[in-house]
Amino acid sequence: METIQLTVDKNVDKEKIYSQAVDLLNQGEVVAFPTETVYGLGAVATNDEAVKKIYEAKGRPSDNPLIVHIGTVEEVTDFVEEIPEKAKTLMERFWPGPLTLIMKAKKDVLAKSVTAGLSTVGLRMPDHEVALTLLRMLKKPVAAPSANRSGKPSPTKAEHVYEDLQGRIPLILDGGTTGIGIESTVIDVTVNPPVILRPGGVTKEMIEKEIGEVIEPTPKEQQLESTPKAPGMKYTHYAPDAPVYLIENNRERIERAIDELKREGHKVALLAPSNFSSTTADYFFPYGEEEDKEQMAAKLYDDLRACDKTDASIILATTTTTEGVGAAIMNRLHKAAGGKWYGTPSTTT
Ligand code: TXA
Ligand code: MG
Repeated sequence: METIQLTVDKNVDKEKIYSQAVDLLNQGEVVAFPTETVYGLGAVATNDEAVKKIYEAKGRPSDNPLIVHIGTVEEVTDFVEEIPEKAKTLMERFWPGPLTLIMKAKKDVLAKSVTAGLSTVGLRMPDHEVALTLLRMLKKPVAAPSANRSGKPSPTKAEHVYEDLQGRIPLILDGGTTGIGIESTVIDVTVNPPVILRPGGVTKEMIEKEIGEVIEPTPKEQQLESTPKAPGMKYTHYAPDAPVYLIENNRERIERAIDELKREGHKVALLAPSNFSSTTADYFFPYGEEEDKEQMAAKLYDDLRACDKTDASIILATTTTTEGVGAAIMNRLHKAAGGKWYGTPSTTT
């Protein structure tokens, strides 16, 4: 299959490009498109054959359910049994935006493979012009996981999608670099207090301001949990090819580690805040300023992918604090590292 990549910007006939994408989706094909978080690989969520093509293209285990994307708030009632009060408040405050709400699914409306046998469904309205225009033209719900091969870092650029899925999908809509850079926050509102199953751009602090107490496991707990509530969280994720090790943000410790590793014959890539630029690592990927967590999140996956373009044999990733979006960054780093530390951490994050 030939994969076509079409740029959606003001220099092109957008109408024609969207029609092409809508036609493909209506024919039961998959299409990759940008959202404000990461690129998604979409299929019509009521068409089981189409949804199966997503799992196939990604190489994704079929017990990992997909998020359903909608273009208007009104559609929610088509897919869920009831909308809890707290969910209404969150939708009003954060939609469109990077927040996925897990609610009780209506029976037999969505394709079986969307919910992977669960009685719940995750819904979100993305805050991206291309995604919203596509959804509103299609007038159908779109099931869409991140548009990467399973296990790889999620794509924040159309080129990342192409790298992973060329020859496996017919169309990529290129809307440039995604803004947030890590996946949406997933919150289960079927329980009280609600539980954050995956931290993301909408932080615990932001949510608690609206609806009071919510529960968020620490990155370590999320990593260790043996029967995770979000089935996807049990797999190694977001990982480049070379092994990733977490290391505390301490210059002396980091330089010592680099020394040791180089002596063992390693080529070392270092992922760290910009102020580490004088490092002795073979490759340095500055992922923003330590104080600017949004910037770190936006660059994280591009940096992890960039490590794969080098001959680095080991990747050291410095940790950050879990305030605000830091919780989501640490969650993704723990996953990428499979929980491995270089040396013994002095803290429990
Ligand atoms: O930002 C995002 O959420 C992106 C863009 C494309 O919207 N999508 C995304 O989808 O990250 P995916 O499939 O890569 O991650 C969905 C996560 C998985 O961890 C999955 O297990 C969880 O949400 N999930 C989906 N439906 C669920 C459900 N009914 N109950 C519990 N967890 C669910
Ligand atoms: Mg994913």
